[in-house]
Amino acid sequence: MTNHKGLALVDLDDDGVDRAFRRDVLEGLRQDQKAIPARWFYDERGSQLFEQITQLEEYYPTRSETEILEALGDRFAELIGRGRAVVEFGSGSSVKTPLLLNAIDPAAYVPLDISGDFLRQSAAELSGKFPGLPVYPVEADFMREVTLPDEVEEHPKLGFFPGSTIGNMIARTAVDLLRSMRATLGHHTHGGALLLIGMDLVKDESTLEAAYDDAEGVTAQFNLNLVERINRELGGTIPVDKLRHEARWDDLHSRIEMHLMASEDIAFEVSGESFEMQQGETIHTENSHKFTRRSANILLLAGGWTPVECWTDSGENFSLILARAENPRNAP
Ligand code: AVI
Repeated sequence: MTNHKGLALVDLDDDGVDRAFRRDVLEGLRQDQKAIPARWFYDERGSQLFEQITQLEEYYPTRSETEILEALGDRFAELIGRGRAVVEFGSGSSVKTPLLLNAIDPAAYVPLDISGDFLRQSAAELSGKFPGLPVYPVEADFMREVTLPDEVEEHPKLGFFPGSTIGNMIARTAVDLLRSMRATLGHHTHGGALLLIGMDLVKDESTLEAAYDDAEGVTAQFNLNLVERINRELGGTIPVDKLRHEARWDDLHSRIEMHLMASEDIAFEVSGESFEMQQGETIHTENSHKFTRRSANILLLAGGWTPVECWTDSGENFSLILARAENPRNAP
C-alpha cells in the first residue's frame, strides 16, 4: 500500500504479515510489564467492535460529543467562518462529520487515514451526502507532517480530530502529533490554522470504569480481539480463555488503562518465540487519558495550539476545544 507521495505505508514480509505489527507485539511481550500499542486493535473485527462500543449506554464520549456538535452549529460558523478546507485526522464518522460540515459550509473536505480501504469507503459516503463539496481523501500516516493536495492550498484550514483519540497517546506522543498537525495545516497562512479537537474529561471513577468495562462485555471482546488477531496473524498460541479483560483508573497519569490479566500461569508462542505469564500478570493494551480544562489547555499549548473556546455537553462529560495555531511569542 502506498500514500499519495508513493511511500509505502504497510510493510509486509514474505508471509504477508505486517512487519510493524510483529515488531510491536514481540518487543511488547519481551518487556517486564507486557504492553502492546492500542493502534493494533483496529483490524476489521476490532473496528466493528469499536463501532458497537460507541453505541453502548455506558460509553458516554460519542453521545456527549455529538450533543455538543448538534448544539453549537451557529457558534461554530461565527468563530470558524465559511470557506475553510476541513482536514479530518481519521476517516470521519458518519454522524459527527456531517454535523460539522453542515454548520460551517466549508470549501473542501480532506480526510486523512492510514487505512486506504476504509478512507475511500467513508469519503464516498460523505460525497453522497454533500454532492457539491470537493472531497480529497489522502492515504497517509497523520502522526507525521502530511502534504495536502494542491487543490486546497489556497484555503484556510480547519483540522478536525474528534473522539478524544488524542487521549490514547502518552503526553510526549500527543505533543508530537499536535505539532505535526500544525505543520500539516500550515500555521503561517491565512492568519493561522484552526483545530477543533475532542478531549474527554476527568469524572468519577465508577463512570469511567463502566465506560471501559460494559455490562454486555463488548469492550472485553474488543480487548481480547487483539490476542485473537495475534494468534491468527502471527502464529500465536495465546490461550484467550485464560485472559481476563480489566479496566482500571490510574490517578497519577489521569487515565483509564486496559489490561489483559492471566487467570492462571500460562506459556505460549508468538512467531516462534516463547513467552510466559504468571497468574495475575497483565498485558497492558490501552491508555485513555482524561483531561481537566487546564490540563487540556497545557497539552494544546505545548503542541503549538492556543485554545480559543471550549464547549462541554450538558452532563459536562466531554469537551470540544477550538484552538488557533499562532506563532509562538519569544517568552521564556
Ligand atoms: C478511540 N478511543 C478514543 C477510544 C477511547 O475511549 O479511548 C477507544 C476505546 N477503548 C475502549 N473503549 C473505547
